[in-house]
Amino acid sequence: MIKVLVVHGPNLNLLGVREPEKYGLLTLVEINDLIRSHAAESGVDVKIFQSNSEGAIIDAIQDARGSIDAIVINPGAYTHYSIAIRDAIAGVGIPAVEVHLSNVHAREEFRHKSVIAPVCAGQIAGFGAASYLLGLDAARSVVAARTEG
Ligand code: DQA
Repeated sequence: MIKVLVVHGPNLNLLGVREPEKYGLLTLVEINDLIRSHAAESGVDVKIFQSNSEGAIIDAIQDARGSIDAIVINPGAYTHYSIAIRDAIAGVGIPAVEVHLSNVHAREEFRHKSVIAPVCAGQIAGFGAASYLLGLDAARSVVAARTEG
């Protein structure tokens, strides 16, 4: 069974009340339940982590070394400027998939750039909570391709 770490970045703990027109009405607890069900159906062992702080996210990425096969990460606003999170992902060498609830490319210009996507296998954005489920599927196929490869 492959092991995937899902990381939620800053302000995602406020989902459900935070700008619901952009991020939907589901709370983080509800999204995590969807992630756990999808993981169970797909035969993925999932670990979920949320933090508002950059250092804690970096620690979680570093701690994944040796036990996690892939990372699905919604870095929140850190997407657009955290070179430190980018370096952590590149540094551990664990394949990562960047996900966003909203379509960042259809929003303000500062959200169009991700400093993290270039060190990820790819990016999924704009499908609401389903972005995480698609991210899990993408993580599975990246790990399968590496294993077969
Ligand atoms: C987000 C998009 C980011 O630009 C924003 O700062 C967030 C949420 C998303 O999931 O759509 O916090 O990552």
